[in-house]
Amino acid sequence: MEIDIFRPVFPLRFGVILCVSVFTSVSLRYFSALFLRVSALFLRVSVLSLQYMKSNKIIITIDGWSSCGKSTLARQLAKKLDYTYIDSGAMYRAITLYFLRNHVDWESSREVKQALKNIELEFIFNPISANSEIYLNGENVEFVIRDMVVAEKVSEVAAIKEVREFAVDQQRIMGRGKGIVMDGRDIGTTVFPHAELKIFMTADNAVRVERRFKELFEKNPNVSLEEVKNNLEMRDYIDSNREVSPLRQARSAIVLDNTNLTPEEQLKLALKWARDRIAEKAAK
Ligand code: CDP
Repeated sequence: MEIDIFRPVFPLRFGVILCVSVFTSVSLRYFSALFLRVSALFLRVSVLSLQYMKSNKIIITIDGWSSCGKSTLARQLAKKLDYTYIDSGAMYRAITLYFLRNHVDWESSREVKQALKNIELEFIFNPISANSEIYLNGENVEFVIRDMVVAEKVSEVAAIKEVREFAVDQQRIMGRGKGIVMDGRDIGTTVFPHAELKIFMTADNAVRVERRFKELFEKNPNVSLEEVKNNLEMRDYIDSNREVSPLRQARSAIVLDNTNLTPEEQLKLALKWARDRIAEKAAK
């Protein structure tokens, strides 16, 4: 039999039907798998947002003057509520330590920007100290950043716009899941202006100096009361007079003067405020 190579072996109609049905079944399989995946994704997003909406966790901000016990209260509060405690001051101290060690000229915006690119900050929970400790480029600097050498310069560094942007961006990311207690100077005003509970702490100057002196003297007996007093006054001045995010009491903040309060008494007060706010959120 002679074969005409220009004529299809199967009738054309049959070929077309075969192609269409193969194409349809392949596409159906492909699209149904895609459809299933997209639906699963939607379901996950809805469950997550429902959980987020239903979560009664809040953000608690504690701002105030140097050495008035913010971190003590923040830490205790976080422990009682099973929240995360973030010491924002530790971030500024760690950045200052990096600048000092690497002789960064913080008058030069170019040098500051370049230096910030090389800084990685992280908080890691230490079960022994029961505290979130700060790491600077992988090194635990929780202890060294409390030194007077850092305290002397930290307010100058913390007043730099680029430094604040760098720290605030990270602080906001840490607060995304709520359930956080963060202390500092601008947490209730700039970092989390919509926080459910804002506390502004204060105490008599002499009491603050005495408390910080005792704390530092235990680590370094060479420190003098005068030196500590001057440092607190200088930091309070720079912190409340700088251009970017100066230390201010947020309008909706509750003032907590702990001059005559023990840590237990201040915790009791703050815990009540926090539980009230959590209950208000749950009732909404
Ligand atoms: O413990 P203390 O209150 O003495 O200070 P800190 O919380 O360790 O903060 C050290 C310094 O970081 C402050 O004096 C401020 O200059 C700066 N800081 C800031 O500018 N903004 C914050 N949110 C936290 C600290």
